[in-house]
Amino acid sequence: MSNPSILILPGDGIGPEVMAEVRKIIGWFGDKRDIQFDVSEDLVGGSAYDAHGTPLHDDTMAKAQEVDAVLLGAVGGPKYDDLDFSVKPERGLLRLRKEMDLYSNLRPAQCFDALADFSSLKTDVVAGLDIMIVRELTSGVYFGEPRGIFEEGNERVGINTQRYTESEIERAARSAFELAMRRNKKLCSMEKANVMESGILWREVVTRVGAEYPEVELSHMYADNGAMQLVRWPKQFDVILTDNLFGDLLSDCAAMLTGSLGMLPSASLGAPMANGRPKALYEPVHGSAPDIAGQGKANPIACILSFAMALRYSFDQGAEADRLEKAVEKVLADGVRTADLLGEEGVTPVSTSEMGDAVIGALDASL
Ligand code: IPM
Ligand code: MG
Repeated sequence: MSNPSILILPGDGIGPEVMAEVRKIIGWFGDKRDIQFDVSEDLVGGSAYDAHGTPLHDDTMAKAQEVDAVLLGAVGGPKYDDLDFSVKPERGLLRLRKEMDLYSNLRPAQCFDALADFSSLKTDVVAGLDIMIVRELTSGVYFGEPRGIFEEGNERVGINTQRYTESEIERAARSAFELAMRRNKKLCSMEKANVMESGILWREVVTRVGAEYPEVELSHMYADNGAMQLVRWPKQFDVILTDNLFGDLLSDCAAMLTGSLGMLPSASLGAPMANGRPKALYEPVHGSAPDIAGQGKANPIACILSFAMALRYSFDQGAEADRLEKAVEKVLADGVRTADLLGEEGVTPVSTSEMGDAVIGALDASL
């Protein structure tokens, strides 16, 4: 049997730097654990635009459809701000999500003990936090029609449409309930059923799916209250299910609870392929951070933890995913810090590649 395949799309800004560290980790699993992958690499975002005039070449799209998992770094940068909307770097990422039909976006927000003091919230509010946001990723206002900027009388009108079908809500809900069953059997669904019809339907469908999971304690919350509750007492949540746009906002909010965006991974999953693996794309939650790109300052942990999610959700290597996550935890407990994690006195930051090496060291020590 051939090795499982991974397509690496480093993208823009700090993407290539953090992805180089993931490559080291992938190499480590091959050398030390005999877990081999066929790895290929291609362009996405601004770098693809520079090479091909499009943020995602059709050949790259086709490759992404064939591999077992895609690992993506980050897209975007000020250099591309003035590009036409249709070829902006972000369109490359959105096309991948849409055409691979990655409807379930898992965004864990986990606070590492060593970093509890970094949060802008009080330590006791975030210490031990471990929640998971499930964001619907292929529909809603991100993709709904009609959309555009139109002439109306003597002015223009900008239109986007929040649109959800029952089946779109249902499959996202089902993935969240399945996850809740493997965690603490608690699910909070967030929408705005008080103002939006799509929210009314969302609540109805989630409730219906919930009847199939009687063990899961289901609650509903308006998304604005959800944002407030996340900041007030995030530990009341375990799994949060929400739509594409609310999920975008709530996951940034949840991410910052943990102290740094540089720490958080994500998995975007679709339907199972012929080999039983879900269509999957893994990426850090952080962006391309153009201000620090190319300086060796970026924190590679979010990208490394995204690979840990790939081990868990695509490659059935839960124990090895645990090993990698524990290695990251150990490195942090040992006080190794990239520049985004400073704050303690007398700590000198390590570079991106030194952080990667430290994780490798901790992996070695785990054997
Ligand atoms: C995210 C990002 C993307 C989004 C952008 C880059 C298109 O903010 O993954 O959260 O809005 O979904
Ligand atoms: Mg976002």
